[in-house]
Amino acid sequence: MNNKNNIKEFKFPPDFLWGASTSAYQIEGGLVNDWSEWEKKNAEKLAQRAKNYWQPWQQEMFPEMFDPDNYICGKAMDSYNRFDEDLKCITDLNLKAYRMGIEWSRIEPQEGKFDMEVIERYRDFLKKLKNNNIKVVLTLWHWPLPLWVSKEGGLTSKKIVKYFESYVKLIVHELGDLVDYWITLNEPLMIIGHGYIDGKFPPNKKNDFISSFKVFNNYIKIHRNIYQIIHKKFPQAKVSIAMTTGYFEPAHKWNLIEVIIAKLAHYFRNELFINRINKQLDYIGVNYYHHDRIIWHPPFKENLNKEIDDRGWEFYPEGIYRVLKKYKKYKKPILITENGTADARDKNRERYIREHLKYIHKAIQEGVDVRGYFYWSLIDNFEWAEGYWPKFGLYEVDRKTFNRKARPSVDFYKKVCSENKIY
Ligand code: BGC
Repeated sequence: MNNKNNIKEFKFPPDFLWGASTSAYQIEGGLVNDWSEWEKKNAEKLAQRAKNYWQPWQQEMFPEMFDPDNYICGKAMDSYNRFDEDLKCITDLNLKAYRMGIEWSRIEPQEGKFDMEVIERYRDFLKKLKNNNIKVVLTLWHWPLPLWVSKEGGLTSKKIVKYFESYVKLIVHELGDLVDYWITLNEPLMIIGHGYIDGKFPPNKKNDFISSFKVFNNYIKIHRNIYQIIHKKFPQAKVSIAMTTGYFEPAHKWNLIEVIIAKLAHYFRNELFINRINKQLDYIGVNYYHHDRIIWHPPFKENLNKEIDDRGWEFYPEGIYRVLKKYKKYKKPILITENGTADARDKNRERYIREHLKYIHKAIQEGVDVRGYFYWSLIDNFEWAEGYWPKFGLYEVDRKTFNRKARPSVDFYKKVCSENKIY
């Protein structure tokens, strides 16, 4: 639609949830769990590998990648002590919703010993959001495990289902009345891929298909179980997972092998998990960052990478539209629970958001029920095995003073959130 100045406008549905996301471990600070232990053992190695792992321009731009400290989460963004500062970023942006996590290892540092002060603190955070009319999207698990859980076999052990259950029962009881949307698990497939296939994340297993299979099944059981627990207390609850999605296309549409690989990749990455929990999904949480152009020979992927971000991730906004169109068949509401770019200089963030939103708008016009968009991330954070150098935040965080400072694209996103439209 054109406005009176003849500029094309893209209006979003009324009540569209404009949001931003974070996760507990990546911003809270002061945590002890399997990730923090892993960092201690691997920081040196990760700093040394940077020379062969990242492109020369990245090495030049982010010399901190050679410093082992970059790979230690430590105080993170100190958000556990600075919730009010994060809240100010949220309200300044005029967000309608905030996706945040709570950290299992902080809540239950020892088996069965729940720290009620921590619960009170989280309750306080959630109440503050509610008092500001901000809807709460709560992630129950975004990757780390308490140390005692990982000692008991972690994700591969059947016991994890019961352990997770008792943690979540407490959360549902203590915090459930303040939650609008639940996310049981964040990107389970990412942990299988990096933890048990390519060995990039803890527990650093490579091509361990037996463990991958066990973890996959445990995730399914956990989700189904938690879904029932939440619904028992809150029948109207909206429960989902955050799916790591990707758009796969054959490099040559006439090449049958590439067509088949792309279809298989789509099935395994985007659909299999959803199909297994379809009856226990009230909506679908979509994280979208990636497009893969499939070729028929190793390494099976050759992106054109006309534009990439600081991490080397391709700018490919059309991909979000393609994923959304594929998800239409599930006939469920969708929240874009993550979409964002590592852009330390904030040169392309505004365009990144705008172009993705245009494609989301197109999908909505074509009948896909998208109800909200959450930019990743509200503030800079700890980027797992990459540590601190990639900067995804709308707000920059000074890691010495922990001051939050708006990057220029905040003005743009604030306008979008306030006007419910883009130009
Ligand atoms: C994860 C986030 C991460 C983001 C950017 C997503 O896959 O859920 O934790 O920070 O990617 O790397």
